[in-house]
Amino acid sequence: MKIGIVGLGFVGLSLTSVLSSKGYDVVGIDVDIDKCKIISNGNAPFFEPELEETLKTGLTKKLKISNDFGLINNCDFLFVTVGTPQNVDGSIDLSIIKKAISTIGKNLKKNKKKPIILVKSTVIPGTMKNVILPILEQKSNKKAGKDFGLVSNPEFLQESTAIRDTKFPHAVVLGGYQTIFMKKTKNFFTKLHPDTPIIITNHQTAEMIKYANNSFLATKISFINQLSNICQKTPGANVDDIAKTIGLDPRIGKLFLNAGPGYGGSCLPKDMKALINFANVSGVNPSLLNAVEEINVKQLEEIITIAKQKLGNLKSKKITILGTAFKPDTDDIRDSTGIELIKKLIKMKAKITVHDPRAIKNTKKIFGEKVKYVKTITGALSKSQCVIIMTQWKEYSKINNEMIKKMDKKIIIDSRRILADKDINVDYNAIGIGDNV
Ligand code: UGA
Repeated sequence: MKIGIVGLGFVGLSLTSVLSSKGYDVVGIDVDIDKCKIISNGNAPFFEPELEETLKTGLTKKLKISNDFGLINNCDFLFVTVGTPQNVDGSIDLSIIKKAISTIGKNLKKNKKKPIILVKSTVIPGTMKNVILPILEQKSNKKAGKDFGLVSNPEFLQESTAIRDTKFPHAVVLGGYQTIFMKKTKNFFTKLHPDTPIIITNHQTAEMIKYANNSFLATKISFINQLSNICQKTPGANVDDIAKTIGLDPRIGKLFLNAGPGYGGSCLPKDMKALINFANVSGVNPSLLNAVEEINVKQLEEIITIAKQKLGNLKSKKITILGTAFKPDTDDIRDSTGIELIKKLIKMKAKITVHDPRAIKNTKKIFGEKVKYVKTITGALSKSQCVIIMTQWKEYSKINNEMIKKMDKKIIIDSRRILADKDINVDYNAIGIGDNV
């Protein structure tokens, strides 16, 4: 059995690495030649735990990486994992996926096999039926359901646990028509993930499941963030104890109740906007989704308000930002709240020093010389008038009295309450913990 994977980002490269490491005959395709070279040498173009080891194992087996779409010829399964970025109005930009699908369609024309094309890219309900399927049929001059299979196969992996999530997904969703191709796809996934529930549905429902999943997660986060803001105004109240306790109720569940500076990353903000746009276009007022989004956007203001209360006008104030990655264990800064905060502080003419264990290279691409980068945490704290912890890196929980010695003003704003239980001689302000009176 031969498997092709088109698009080697987080989803595509994780899948390529996992399947090839298990011995499957895999070809990973990407239009970016430089990226292909890096991957072929056993290196990941971004940081993701366990990815490189898994990739290297795959390369010792049958894995091939190339920018040549011709290699997808004679694949039995073809996964499409290209990006669907955001347009200004919040809708998704289909240009990349349309191009990839056109190329696959042209290739299909000469293909002797009857491949099954699985789309993992996140697309708005209706895209598979109204956009992807017609392009494939037109370019290949073949019929879906007869000459090739087409299946929606949304992905639920999280960055920082991408390999584990690819190996052990909580569910496999297969959307499409009930054909022999669907049966084959189900058999493939049953073998790959014997203990995982497989949900078979139509295209539109599968497409919607992905948005439902991410928008529900965003809703949980905005819910706890709003509660955390109320806690902050309630002397002695602690949002973590509340989250821990309500999380014990199985109807609520403990995950995604970690209050903070708002959700970021390449998926939750984008998918929320796309769903809101889709609801509006469909004639449904997405009032709940709008509120979730509004709470998220305003969450950074909570941090800026505390900074202003403590420092007055922020002009020329030396502020240290700890963490620009959108979450720990990644170097990804896309839609990161830390990056957004720095942009706002620069506008207020604050002097910014930045530390992040992994994301400095990417951060430099955005701010260049506009901010100062320091490699050690102690160095980043030196001369600072206010430290703002943005990303929950483990390293930051080690901050102690020794490390803060050289701070000019000993003020810490902790958006993740990493230091809440520590005995540190600072003016400590945590998002979600009410000041004791
Ligand atoms: C998210 C989803 O969790 C995945 O299931 C989905 O497959 C992926 O998007 C996608 O659509 O590709 P990811 O973007 O990797 O995954 O990141 P998350 O772990 O969901 O975190 C998103 C943001 O929410 C981060 O900024 C994180 O710090 C924040 N967050 C998360 C909180 O503030 N509190 C929490 O309790 C959890």
